[in-house]
Amino acid sequence: MTRPPFHYQDDTLHCEDVPLATIAAEVGTPTYVYSKQAITGAYRAYDDALAGVDHLVCYSVKANSSLGILSMLVAEGAGADIVSAGELYRWQRAGGDPGKVVFSGVGKTEAEIKAALAAGILAFNVESIEELVAIDRIARAAGVVAPVALRVNPDVDAQTHPYISTGLKQNKFGIAADVARDVFRRAAGMPNLLVRGIDCHIGSQLTKTAPFSDAIARLCKLVLDLAADGIAIDLIDIGGGLGIDYGKDGDAPPPSHGEYGAAVKAALAPLKALPPIKLLVEPGRSIVGPAGTLVTRVLYRKPGETKHFTIVDAAMNDLLRPSFYGSHHPMQPVHKKSAATQVTDIVGPICETGDFLARDRALPPLAQGDLLAIGAAGAYGMTMSSNYNTRPRAAEVVVDGKRWRIIRERETLEHLLAGERTFS
Ligand code: LLP
Repeated sequence: MTRPPFHYQDDTLHCEDVPLATIAAEVGTPTYVYSKQAITGAYRAYDDALAGVDHLVCYSVKANSSLGILSMLVAEGAGADIVSAGELYRWQRAGGDPGKVVFSGVGKTEAEIKAALAAGILAFNVESIEELVAIDRIARAAGVVAPVALRVNPDVDAQTHPYISTGLKQNKFGIAADVARDVFRRAAGMPNLLVRGIDCHIGSQLTKTAPFSDAIARLCKLVLDLAADGIAIDLIDIGGGLGIDYGKDGDAPPPSHGEYGAAVKAALAPLKALPPIKLLVEPGRSIVGPAGTLVTRVLYRKPGETKHFTIVDAAMNDLLRPSFYGSHHPMQPVHKKSAATQVTDIVGPICETGDFLARDRALPPLAQGDLLAIGAAGAYGMTMSSNYNTRPRAAEVVVDGKRWRIIRERETLEHLLAGERTFS
């Protein structure tokens, strides 16, 4: 059993072999700190779990799109799942192969479609008939044939938070399963499209394998129907990956990569009758989530009549998940304390009551100046951060053994105002 990426050594929380206090002293707070070993380990766990099936792990860039993170995954041989030309730009700037990119999203603009065609991506995951028509037209004007997969909405309940459930009829995503066969026929008849695949993504933070199996079963049935119609595809994309452990009491741990791999392989069995089809998976959260911690410093304590508040220098603009989804993130003091606990709200400096990172959390009593590590923050942390209240965004650091490096400088006020002008 390998050591967890964040662990106490001499009563001080370390990322791999580096004390978080050292990073905080040199880089300041708030700072996101990531373990390289955890990121590459999670990527390889997917690769290993799918061994025996022709596959490509297309990391979902939206989970964490920093160049330092992408470059590590590029070096591992990963592909990418993108949802904007911006993410494609980042992927290419990190050295990523555009030929391993799938482009999802319900609202691709003409400029984005052009950029993706010029880059030569693996496939557009197309979400509507009007989008198909647009891609065919834009490809024709560019004198190319666009590789497409149709994103099917399988109407499967992912059993996750409603904001991140995407595979139900009432969600905006994908083409309804009952009309998908007809839409495939239409796409096959469009001269500048090459129909290569079928795709689905039913939601995020999935903590069971059954919804994956159900969705794959529905896709397989459709693939067999398409084969009967003379439409042969060679890519099947099953969307995002596993949920992660956010350390909340009573929450069941997510399935292991091995369990996931076994469930996926079993569900794909009906395709054995057909010529080989490559499997694509688009995990994001489970690759970077457990690998990242947000290090923050206590500014003030405010004992109140009904509540105790601990005010830290990170806020909802740095980590939106608790206020936006009511998400729980595990928290540990960087310098280990006694076992005694105190119930407190961990809040940021932003002028909103919704600006909290934890509510009614039992933590060892924290003093002014103490460092606190907010765990499982590597996914949808930095990418969802903002400049609300004109707060520069946090720095980011990657640790590899004893070595560490800033992969993103803390923003300055100059960065924030770039491109703005006064009006008089
Ligand atoms: N593929 C597609 C088409 C997606 O929309 C997503 C996530 C993924 C893959 C990656 O899924 P994952 O492996 O990370 O579960 N901000 C939310 C999560 C939004 C997920 C959006 N789509 C959060 O912080 O929980």
